[in-house]
Order: sequence, then structure tokens, then C-alpha cells
Amino acid sequence: MVEVFASILAANVLDLAREVIKAEELGVNGLHVDIMDGHYVCNFGFGPQFIHSLKRLTSLPVEAHLEVEHGDSFVDLFIGCGSDIITLHPESCRKLEESLQKIKKSGVKSGLAVSPRLSLDLVDRYLSLVDRLLIMTVPPGFGGQRLCENTLPVIAEAKLRINKLGLQVTVAADGGINLDNVLRVIESGADTLVMGTALFQNPNVGKLMELIKGSSGQSVPGK
Ligand code: DX5
Ligand code: ZN
Repeated sequence: MVEVFASILAANVLDLAREVIKAEELGVNGLHVDIMDGHYVCNFGFGPQFIHSLKRLTSLPVEAHLEVEHGDSFVDLFIGCGSDIITLHPESCRKLEESLQKIKKSGVKSGLAVSPRLSLDLVDRYLSLVDRLLIMTVPPGFGGQRLCENTLPVIAEAKLRINKLGLQVTVAADGGINLDNVLRVIESGADTLVMGTALFQNPNVGKLMELIKGSSGQSVPGK
């Protein structure tokens, strides 16, 4: 069954509580929070205080996607604020293995993200330490970008490698997913869809959710 995580970056920041309730009503399975530092990517995102507040507002699982330099340095902070999943970019970390072990030991789920230009080889040796592999389907940094078609085979290849190893790692796709391409993303093998613009800035969002839930045989709440 395909899951949907709502990327808060595309929500109306002046009305965030209501946006979270809207996401809950749409039947999403979790919230995705982009943490950006203006260095690793040319943009700024949310911080630990925001996740802390979010956790008091909703019972949905919250993923902290650390699009920052030296991701390792912030693992404690994001465990401490109540994140349910912490996703790191391997090339931004110096002590990746240690950090993934720390995340797992704390009871939080661990994730690794692969940017469009990078190879899956970079994460191969860490797969046994993660719960989620996040395939970036756009370059990290901004919401509302166009999905890079050449990342779809990467999703399929990631599933293949994980299955070959017999691991229970879910594959998520993050960025540029919309009504036009969602079925192809699912067919490529994504277990989880991270979507921002298509959820928060789309009058056809009900149709989109129906398509997703229909494709995996799950019913949409309120329908
Ligand atoms: C990009 C972020 C994504 C982004 C997805 O750096 O990691 O999570 O917010 O948003 P949309 O669905 O608008 O591409
Ligand atoms: Zn993200």
C-alpha cells in the first residue's frame, strides 16, 4: 500500500495549523519537514522548534529531511525535538555510520537521501542501517520543481538492490510528484510519495489522493 507524506514546505506558513488538519483530512500517512541551512542548498526551511510544535498538534509521524551541511552535527537536536524519522544526505555527513546507529538506538527511524546527480553506490553499504531510502526526484532545495524523469529508474534500481539484500527498507520519492506523473512514480516502485505543491496548492487534490489510494487498494477517508 503506497503511503503519502505531505511536504510542509508548500503549505501556507501563515496558516500552518489549518494546513496540517487539511493534510490529516486528506488521509496522508505522515508529514515531511525540510530542514535547510542556506549552505547545503540555497534556501531556508524549518527547524527543530517547528517539529516540536508540530508533534503537539498532530499524531501523524513527522520526518525531518536534513538538507544541511554536516548533517551529523544535528542528529541529537532532531532526535530531541521528537522527529519520528530523520533523513540524512550521505555526502553531507562525516560520521554517517555512527549517526545512523545513534538514530536507530534512540528509537527514531533512519533515512538516507539520494540526490538526482548522485549514485546509489553511495548508500549501498549503509542499507542495513536504514528504514527509508529517499530518492530525490528533483534537485534538493525547493518545492514546486519539475520531476526529473531520469530518477524513475533509480527508484526501480533501489527496490531491486533492497530486495536482493532481503532488507525491510522502504523507498520514498521526493519532489515534483503530481497528477500527471504519480502513477509512473508508483509503477517505478515507490512505497512512499512525498508531495508538497500537489497537496497544498492544488484544487484537484481529492482526485490525486483517490488515484493514489485506488492504485494501492486503500480507501480515501470521507469518501
Ligand atoms: C525539496 C524538498 C521536497 C519538496 C517537495 O528540496 O526535499 O520535500 O518540498 O515539494 P514538491 O512536491 O512541491 O516538489
Ligand atoms: Zn524533502
